[in-house]
Amino acid sequence: MNILAIETSCDETGVALLKIGGRGAAPGTKNGTIKIPKVEVLENFVASQIKLHREFGGVVPNLAKREHLRNLPILYARLERRLRAKGKRLSFDMITVTVGPGLEPALWTGITFAKELAKKTGKPLVGANHLEGHLYSFLLPAGRDPKKAAPIKFPAIALIVSGGHTMLLKMDSLTARRTLGETRDDAAGEAFDKVARLLDLPYPGGPEIERIAHEGDPHAIEFPRPMLHEKNYEFSFSGLKTAVLYYMRDHAPVAVAATPSRADVAASFQEAVLDVLTRKTMRAVREYGAHSVILCGGVAANKALRLRLGRETRKAGCSFLVPLFKYNLDNAAMIGLAGYVTHLRGKKYPLRADGSLGV
Ligand code: KG4
Ligand code: ZN
Repeated sequence: MNILAIETSCDETGVALLKIGGRGAAPGTKNGTIKIPKVEVLENFVASQIKLHREFGGVVPNLAKREHLRNLPILYARLERRLRAKGKRLSFDMITVTVGPGLEPALWTGITFAKELAKKTGKPLVGANHLEGHLYSFLLPAGRDPKKAAPIKFPAIALIVSGGHTMLLKMDSLTARRTLGETRDDAAGEAFDKVARLLDLPYPGGPEIERIAHEGDPHAIEFPRPMLHEKNYEFSFSGLKTAVLYYMRDHAPVAVAATPSRADVAASFQEAVLDVLTRKTMRAVREYGAHSVILCGGVAANKALRLRLGRETRKAGCSFLVPLFKYNLDNAAMIGLAGYVTHLRGKKYPLRADGSLGV
């Protein structure tokens, strides 16, 4: 089955064409669960608006909407052109589009585009959940070999860390899952973005903090580890951001060359976030006897987090599933997978923007 996927939930416009086949493609279920699909990403285009929003220090919903409107037909035409150059014609059996969560004006642009395309081509349209996209992104093929999709053993613990979400899930199958806990205030990515602003670093803050943290000492400042010792799986990052704010105020000016330096603040902040994320995830692994750990969402692009959680996971005898770097950030390939699983389950998300859609 070929799937055309569209993503416009935030500040990346994504259009992808996936081929999903093999054993997992049959809509049959095994023990009531959906088999792991075999996926090939035929094309995956992302138009990032980061530079545009950078000027404003964050994503401006109406600007995002305007850019998606402009980018969608361009990416679709590029897809047709790319296939034509390979002597192929664009053909698909299903269209899928993100319906939430995300910025509603941005989501609507993708939904409207997809609806028009469905009308024009007569193909079915399936709404997809952005968080399920992140959750399934580890199934996207690693490297160039489509056979190299990661194996997963259940139960699995999934940590979704993005700009809008921080949550821990327990998965008994690809579709049977339960939320163990989520953030009570800021998401991990949001904390990175806000702390970056305090440090005069541009948006998005995650990669910037990671970059300068390399030169800093992660133990220079003992920032708090919010909710680390509470016996639940919830998170809270706004207090940590405030702790950085007070530190900056009390130690002004925290300059590039001072001691502790700006890099020390970045490294110590990153260490506090990684500490909480890793230790809470590993506690869930022990409590639920998990065999796999999934790490996904934009913050999963953080190499220090991938290294640390990967190390702890393997030490516990679990497989560590993390998507290729390019599939951590928002993209349409992961939405193609989420739409496919939604279709197999026979689940129907209403085809309208739902900014706070849960997983
Ligand atoms: O998943 P994503 O692309 O969009 C949402 O669905 O929110 O995640 C974007 C978030 C931003 O907050 C960004 O700062 C963060 O992911 N991020 C990172 C890194 N790269 C992106 N955070 C920490 N380290 C990184 N290397
Ligand atoms: Zn996302």
